[in-house]
Amino acid sequence: MASRLAALRDWFDARMPSVAEEWRKHAAEYYAPKNFNFWYYFGSLALLVLVIQIVSGIFLTMNYKPDANLAFGSVEYIMRDVPGGWIIRYVHSTGASAFFVIVYLHMFRALLYGSHREPRELVWIFGVLIYLTLMAEAFFGYLLPWGQMSYWGAQVIVNLFSTIPFIGPDLALWIRGDYVVSDATLNRFFALHVIAIPLVLLGLVAVHILALHDVGSNNPDGIEIKKKKDPQTGKPLDGIPFHPYYTVKDIVGAIVFLAIFCAVVFFVPEMGGYFLEHNNFIPADPLKTPPHIAPVWYFTPYYSILRAVPPMFNSQFPGVLAMGLAVLVLFFLPWLDRSPVKSIRYRGWLYKGWLAAFVVSFLMLGYLGTEPTTVWGQFGFDAFFLDTKDVATWAARFFTVVYFLFFLLMPWYTARDKTKPVPERVTM
Ligand code: HEM
Repeated sequence: MASRLAALRDWFDARMPSVAEEWRKHAAEYYAPKNFNFWYYFGSLALLVLVIQIVSGIFLTMNYKPDANLAFGSVEYIMRDVPGGWIIRYVHSTGASAFFVIVYLHMFRALLYGSHREPRELVWIFGVLIYLTLMAEAFFGYLLPWGQMSYWGAQVIVNLFSTIPFIGPDLALWIRGDYVVSDATLNRFFALHVIAIPLVLLGLVAVHILALHDVGSNNPDGIEIKKKKDPQTGKPLDGIPFHPYYTVKDIVGAIVFLAIFCAVVFFVPEMGGYFLEHNNFIPADPLKTPPHIAPVWYFTPYYSILRAVPPMFNSQFPGVLAMGLAVLVLFFLPWLDRSPVKSIRYRGWLYKGWLAAFVVSFLMLGYLGTEPTTVWGQFGFDAFFLDTKDVATWAARFFTVVYFLFFLLMPWYTARDKTKPVPERVTM
C-alpha cells in the first residue's frame, strides 16, 4: 500500500512538481519561531472558520430563496423541514460571530507583539482589508433572513451613506437599487454575499499569507529569527519547520475550538440574542419600525461611536465620519508606533497603560452599542438627578475619545516609553 502511494506521489510529482515545491515552501520548510504561544492559534482558526462558512453557506444556498416574499419563509423551511437544515443554519450563524471573536483576538495579538511593525506592514494592511471585507460580508448576509432586524438594520446603515455631502443621497439609492430597502436590495445583497465578497476574501487571505511567508512570522519576543542563522544549514537557529510542529499544535487548537463551537451550536445558538437577535424572528415589515434597532455585537463599538458624535447642521455626517475613521486609522498603525521594541514584554508602562485603556474603551463601546441609550437607568443614576440617556451618551463620548487618543498619541507615548533590553535569542 505504502509503495503504491509513493508511486502515485512520484507520478504526480513528475507531472506537477510545483505542488510539492509549494508544500515545502509554505509548510515542511517554512521555518516558524519556536516560541509561538496561545495567541498564535487564531490565524489557523480564522482559516478553519472561513472554510466552515463557505461549506455551510453552500448548503444553505441550496434551499434559501432570495425573494422578498419568500426569503423569511425559506429560512423557516430550512430550520423545520430540510433534513439537517437547522444545524447548517446554526453552524453558519454561530460561525459568523466566531469569525469576529477570532479575528478580534488575532488583531489584538498584533498589538501585543508588534506584528504590524516593519517588515510586516503589508501583512497588516492586507489584514485590515480582510477585516473591512468581513464586515461587508456580515452586513450583506444579515439582510438575507429578511427579519425585522435584517430589514431595519440595512435601512439604517444604507441611510448613513446618504449623509455624505453631495453624493450621499445618490449613493444610498445606488446601493439599495430602490428608494427603500426592497426586493431589489435583497437580490443584490445575495449576489454580493454568496459570490462577490467571498471571492475577494479568499484572494485577500491568500496574499495575507503569502506576504507573511515572504518575511517570516513574528513571535512573542518580537525578535527577527532570520537574523540568527545556523552557518552550516542556513536555517534560523530559533526556527522549527511549520510541518509537523505547528500543524500538530494547530490541530490541538482546532479541536478545542470545535468543542466550544459545537457547545454553542447545540445549546445556545442564539447566545441570548447576541448571535441571533430576537427581533429577527419577526418577518420584515416596512411599515413598522422596531423600537430598538441595534446591529449584531461585532459592529456595536462602531455603532456607539456613531451615536456618540452629535449631529452638526442637522446632519449625522460627523458621526458617520468618526465611525469610518475609527476603522481606517488601523491602516496607519505600523507608522504610528515608534517604539524601539516590538513585543509588550519589553515595552514600558506607557504602552501597556494605553493598550489597557483602549481594550476597556472598545469593550465598553461594544456594550453601550447593544443597549438603548436609556440603559444606565438600571444602575440607579436617576438618583443623582442625571438624565440616564445623557450618562450613556457621555460615557460613549468619553470612550470614543480614548479610542482615538490611543492611536493619535501613539507616536508620542511609544517614543517616550521606557523599554527593556531585548534578548538576542527568543525566550521559551
Ligand atoms: C479571514 C481572516 C484572516 C485569516 C484567515 C488570517 C490568517 C492568518 C494566518 C494563518 C496567519 C499566520 C498564523 C498566525 O500568525 O496566527 C496570520 C498572521 C497574521 N495576521 Fe492574519 N488572518 C486573518 C485576518 C487578519 C486581520 C483582520 C488582521 C489585522 C488587521 C491580521 C493580521 C495578521 C498579522 C499582523 C499576522 C502576522 C502575525 C505574526 O507573525 O506575529 N489578520 N493571519
